[in-house]
Amino acid sequence: MTAGRIPILIDTDPGQDDAVAILLACAHPGELDLRAVTAVAGNVPVGQATANVLRILDLAGREEAPVHRGAEAPLLYPLETAEFVCGPDGLTGADLPVSARRASPGHAAEALVAALRAAPARSVTLCALGPLTNLALAFRLAPDALGHVERIVLMGGALGLGNMTPAAEFNAYVDPHAAAIVFGAGVPIVMFGLHATHQAVPNDDEMARLAALGGRSAAAAHGMMTRPRAGGLGTAGHPMHDPLVIAWLLWPDLFQGRDCFVEVETGPGSQRGRTTIDWHGRLKRPPNAFVVDGVDARGFFARLIGSLSRLP
Ligand code: RIB
Ligand code: CA
Repeated sequence: MTAGRIPILIDTDPGQDDAVAILLACAHPGELDLRAVTAVAGNVPVGQATANVLRILDLAGREEAPVHRGAEAPLLYPLETAEFVCGPDGLTGADLPVSARRASPGHAAEALVAALRAAPARSVTLCALGPLTNLALAFRLAPDALGHVERIVLMGGALGLGNMTPAAEFNAYVDPHAAAIVFGAGVPIVMFGLHATHQAVPNDDEMARLAALGGRSAAAAHGMMTRPRAGGLGTAGHPMHDPLVIAWLLWPDLFQGRDCFVEVETGPGSQRGRTTIDWHGRLKRPPNAFVVDGVDARGFFARLIGSLSRLP
């Protein structure tokens, strides 16, 4: 863990859980040095994702954070989005106004490269909350930028059943080629797959405590986390997938896992986007990720609620 403030870049496809993750990061300016937020196509098209990032940062009072628009589509496959889960604009339940601001100029991949090159070697944490297209583009555009990355903490993949298909979790499914590039980049990775994030579903008592906070950010988070369950992807309630990425940086004591070799299936068949996680080391391949499997969910939500109480 880095002493002092942790320099972070968030790449995201908001989505309600992305929004809560960004709010959580904004609630900890003393611990997290948020250098920029980059938007990627995923839950919603990238134009909407970019607009959502601006809306969320407005809500948190963090209008100074640079926002960059990124990839319109995965590296090779056509884009598939998830409005059937997160609603037409991706933030059903948040009730947020459209931002009066616009994204900063420059593609997200270029912005990631510039931000990394401006930082010391192995000093920046990349927080990847959506399909990994922007990160893959940045790594291909400027391989030297990898030397400035301390680690990638990402939400994606699954030890078992997927949520987009039986084999694949949504972020890995949408752009498996990008995921394969990231898992093959040789940079330390902390992986939050569905087997971990499906443990993080808020309960009624936690939602009541959140509703009682009274601030605009808490109200928006409450609306997003208690919205009627849309078509969904097979789980009850709204798992807080992406906030766990930020929680790892703030409260690593909440989590357990192990180093594993992880491989991503890029083919077009039923296994597309499957993350094969060698949990028992059978393949004798060097580990390329720390895979989280234990989550103290009640401890997480107690701290999340405390954090959200600090926002406007
Ligand atoms: O499968 C869940 C992941 O896909 C989350 O990051 C959610 O926001 C979507 O991007
Ligand atoms: Ca996401």
